[in-house]
Amino acid sequence: MIIDGKKEAALLREEIKKEILLLKEKTKKVPGLSVILIGDFTPSQIYVKNKEKNSKEVGINSEVIKYPKDITEQEVLNKIKELNNNPEVSGILVQLPLPKHINKEKIINAIHPKKDVDGFNPINVGNLASGYDAIIPCTPLGCLYLIKKIEKNLSGKHAVIIGRSNLNGKPMAQLLLRENCTVTIVHSKTKDLKAECQKADILVAAVGKANLVKGDWVKKDSIIIDVGINKVEEKIVGDVDFESVKEKVKAITPVPGGVGPMTIACLLKNTLECFKAR
Ligand code: GUN
Repeated sequence: MIIDGKKEAALLREEIKKEILLLKEKTKKVPGLSVILIGDFTPSQIYVKNKEKNSKEVGINSEVIKYPKDITEQEVLNKIKELNNNPEVSGILVQLPLPKHINKEKIINAIHPKKDVDGFNPINVGNLASGYDAIIPCTPLGCLYLIKKIEKNLSGKHAVIIGRSNLNGKPMAQLLLRENCTVTIVHSKTKDLKAECQKADILVAAVGKANLVKGDWVKKDSIIIDVGINKVEEKIVGDVDFESVKEKVKAITPVPGGVGPMTIACLLKNTLECFKAR
């Protein structure tokens, strides 16, 4: 089965839209999302445009604050402080990567944990790891949503995650642990990547290496989630060699059209949850 991320994301957006309409009738207010975009990195510009378009479609009041790449760190911190104190703003997102002279850690720490729709602030990271209420990063949240569409009960399943980034691998591991999976994270220093992957009932590839996972790396009837977005000869491909893997497994996400659309839908969901929490 090929998992249709576009369709699942559209369904989730519909639910979000309905809930925002109901809340608007009751409170006369709608969620607000402020996105800060620094510099002119093309992929970031495309992501932010998509985030803005999707937000508006579900009734979120979205604003994009654009800065040139030589903006000072202090000016960005001042803006974040202003947004933290603005009651109309439910969620704040600073698009990554940042220019070298701006300290990513300082910026992420400055966002109020209850407005941190990315779930990158260490308060949210710590709460997720401790099993407390937390805002969960959008990509892993979208991945879990797709996995659970295929398999409701993940208890005892062996999940293998390729990649240990703060954005994807680590929070994905925490989420699957919370679902009672046995979790292995593999990375560039892992001795036998293929052998580890062959044990996976659920395999999440989030490493940024085009077509790394081949047909003989995966277990029969497993679930494969491909987070990779890699450009090969002007074509976008994932971390999984789709053609050789798809026949062997129970379900697989394509690239594009798998995890990508879910990430944005989960950003909208996080923004709505932040609005409700306030
Ligand atoms: N750059 C690439 N992915 C992301 C994301 O999920 N959030 C932010 N803020 N920046 C990104």
